[in-house]
Amino acid sequence: MFNPEKFRQAFPYFKQADAVVYLDNAATTLKPQALIDATVEFYQSAGSVHRSQYDEKQTALYEQARSKVRRLINAESEQAVIWTSGTTQAINTVANGLLPHLQVGDEIVISEADHHANFVTWHQIAQKCGAKLHILPILDNWLIDENALLACLNARTKLVALNVVSNVTGTQQPIAHFIQLIRQHSQALILLDAAQAISHIRLDMQQLDADFIAFSAHKIYGPNGLGVLAGKLTALEQLQPLQYGGKMVASASKQGIHFAELPYRLEAGTPNIAAVIGFNAVLNWLENEPFEAAEQYAVELAEQAKVRLKKYPNCRLFQSPQASSVLSFVFDGIACSDLATLLAEQNIALRTGVHCAMPYLARLGVSSTLRLSFAPYNTEQDLNLFFTALENALNLLE
Ligand SMILES: Cc1ncc(COP(=O)(O)O)c(C=O)c1O
Repeated sequence: MFNPEKFRQAFPYFKQADAVVYLDNAATTLKPQALIDATVEFYQSAGSVHRSQYDEKQTALYEQARSKVRRLINAESEQAVIWTSGTTQAINTVANGLLPHLQVGDEIVISEADHHANFVTWHQIAQKCGAKLHILPILDNWLIDENALLACLNARTKLVALNVVSNVTGTQQPIAHFIQLIRQHSQALILLDAAQAISHIRLDMQQLDADFIAFSAHKIYGPNGLGVLAGKLTALEQLQPLQYGGKMVASASKQGIHFAELPYRLEAGTPNIAAVIGFNAVLNWLENEPFEAAEQYAVELAEQAKVRLKKYPNCRLFQSPQASSVLSFVFDGIACSDLATLLAEQNIALRTGVHCAMPYLARLGVSSTLRLSFAPYNTEQDLNLFFTALENALNLLE
């Protein structure tokens, strides 16, 4: 059974007198005490990881975090977990790592539903290597057009990089089905941008036949500056390292360099140890929470918000076809930024703007939206406070 009150108590933010009603969880989640304690403990200790005999304790925690990520996404022994600074760096690691293998005439597939981390990266890589970029359209229900995907797959398709859950509408793509289609009709490598998906759905690397998945720790109660690139060893081995330096070589001499095995080959330099050890504590804590029930609770709050927003005749909702804890909307005739400013003045934190997804917003036919995104620590009281503040703001603006 999910206990929202107990879950909320794990987050010290709510004990602060000036805590806002935080409804911007798709941007980043709040941090549990477990993360703060583990981070403080690390910074009160000495040393690094994988460097000396005396740093065994830190190294053990650091590698335990990797095992916990493996468990989170059900990775198997033929798959590796690489630490990055976030989803963006994970996608860039794949994109730049594949660059030497890409050439004029190759084809890359992305979609209108992508965050700039995926969209801009592959756009730039395609320009650099002269590959053709297919941008799959999204249908009126915000799902990627399956026919367009089928139509563009061929022997020259080298990579398909798709968003699993949208940060704008919360739409979940039928990604397992798309992967099947891609496998049937091409030899392409498949990358999943799971930045949003990681906190909403159970990703199973053994069932999803993707080559790479990317996500950020800060979207799932973890620290900033840490992300994961997980993937099949056979796919990761094809990547030219994004960075060169310490700990990523097996040997270096005047005669030549031999890279270390994965994951270390793609993790040059001193890593963000505090973040990894902090994330270990977060995953430890999270393992004792009922993932699906917690998500369901957040989705129900969002569903209530949708019902209440629909009562405003000038409110346009951009709803995903599935129930989701993320929703975007606009009030016709009112600038999103004006509304967001008046809401912020009343301690309501929600997101407004283009959500780093300009192609998606262009498809929605708007220049910005307001976005509510719920987490399991939100409450019905948060919802009521939001609607009281919204009512006040609309009274001032209309
Ligand atoms: C779908 C999606 N992809 C990628 C990113 C980029 O994540 P980060 O900025 O943590 O690298 C985000 C962040 O909002 C996102 O929502």
